[in-house]
Amino acid sequence: MNIYLSLIYLLATVTFIYGLKLLGHPETAKRGNQIAASGMALAIAGTILLHGLEVSGFVYGLIGGAILIGAIIGYVIAVKVKMTKMPELVSLFNGFGGASAALIGLVEFGQNTGNTNQTITILAAIAIGSLTFSGSMIAWAKLNGTLWKDIRLPKYNLINNILLLAIIAYAVYMVISGSSGFAFALILLFGGLIYGVLLVIPIGGADMPVVISLLNSLTGIAAAITGILYDNMVMLAGGILVGSAGLILTYAMCEAMNRSLVNVMFGAFGGTEVSGGEQHTQTQGTIKKASVSDVAILMNYAQRVIFVPGYGLAVAQAQHAIHELEQLLENRGIEVKYAIHPVAGRMPGHMNVLLAETNVEYDKLAEMEDVNPEFQNTDVAFVVGANDVVNPAARNDTSSPIYGMPILDVDHAKQIIVNKRSMNPGYAGIDNELFYNQKTSMLFGDAKAIIQALVTELKGM
Ligand code: TAP
Repeated sequence: MNIYLSLIYLLATVTFIYGLKLLGHPETAKRGNQIAASGMALAIAGTILLHGLEVSGFVYGLIGGAILIGAIIGYVIAVKVKMTKMPELVSLFNGFGGASAALIGLVEFGQNTGNTNQTITILAAIAIGSLTFSGSMIAWAKLNGTLWKDIRLPKYNLINNILLLAIIAYAVYMVISGSSGFAFALILLFGGLIYGVLLVIPIGGADMPVVISLLNSLTGIAAAITGILYDNMVMLAGGILVGSAGLILTYAMCEAMNRSLVNVMFGAFGGTEVSGGEQHTQTQGTIKKASVSDVAILMNYAQRVIFVPGYGLAVAQAQHAIHELEQLLENRGIEVKYAIHPVAGRMPGHMNVLLAETNVEYDKLAEMEDVNPEFQNTDVAFVVGANDVVNPAARNDTSSPIYGMPILDVDHAKQIIVNKRSMNPGYAGIDNELFYNQKTSMLFGDAKAIIQALVTELKGM
């Protein structure tokens, strides 16, 4: 290969690794993204100009046109997308990555020379790419509400696992028999597509982030496989990085949601499935309502307040308002922190991104393990648009679908204020016994409007 192209690939790989490292902190994440994207642009330009492609000017025109159209669509989508819709966008991108790998596999299958290693790689690209594509499309439809029901076929785990084994057995047969007909590859493609659909349709409730992260990782693996296919170092390295980062994230999500990876891959999956066939307890009781001025007084006389942001804060776009409230309280000598649950919101790091947008100091963001022991010495826990991540049923109710998921121990605080618009449940669709706690007062209303009202009230005190 052209020595300059090799150097470009090496440089691009370094930018991916360095960019990924910078992505690890909200302060440097934007720069990390830019650096890795520049490396990718360099690798693409290098491939087109230096790879010695023996193609006509017309094909160059097609490549340029495709890049231009893709770049425009990508730019418009990325600029317009709302932060709360990010997981849907990630699902779409995962799906397109998988589709590319499957299509490359199909094209290369037609030109396969019969080399066993090459055949294995091509078949893996087709199978993994197609299941990633269909699974991601289902995840996208579920996240945007088009597909709102979790569809469970009878014995769906058994069916899925048999289908997976059948796909593997079929691929092995293709390799051993040296099947070369295009129809053989198409059967594998359809098998992968069907498996992707069956894998994701039963999944519901709180398990969705895990599956998105897993699909993300599979996209990386599919890309790495195509890298092997083309003996292309940068594609291989990029794919491995996405695949491994996705797997690490999947593992971290599993931990945060108390699911084992084996469960995720092979069965006992589905957020609303209740162990032992019992129904989880429906919470009974009365709730206490608070007014804005009650809460303002409570906060004004507190020494330590912990804000607990959740999905509702993102929906209401109340990040600037809550930052203003934090500064107001801090100026009065009240210690304020934000308790961040790893799956609060709808995407990994959702709360960090949201609060970084309004320049909340990073040392004010406390992770779940660090902040949980502090709730007992906290005067007011102010829960804003969070629900599942503070539901004590995860600790107490073995029949709850979220039982075992680590939560923020806000119920240990001296006083709890919960701001949301109604008594509607959160993402997991279950009641929350925290709202009926003796120490809890509900402050109903849109998060932004309520927090702005609190700020006004406090300023008048
Ligand atoms: P949720 O449990 O989804 O609760 C959010 C609450 O916000 C709702 O109960 C809603 O109640 C309230 N809300 C909505 N709009 C509001 C507004 N404008 N003002 C005030 N409140 C508003 O959120 P959470 O506690 O952050 O938990 C996240 C859930 O999403 C978990 O179950 C998690 O597994 C799941 N999930 C997470 C991810 C990732 S990776 N973070 C991805 C997908 C799913 P009202 O309607 O009554 O206002």
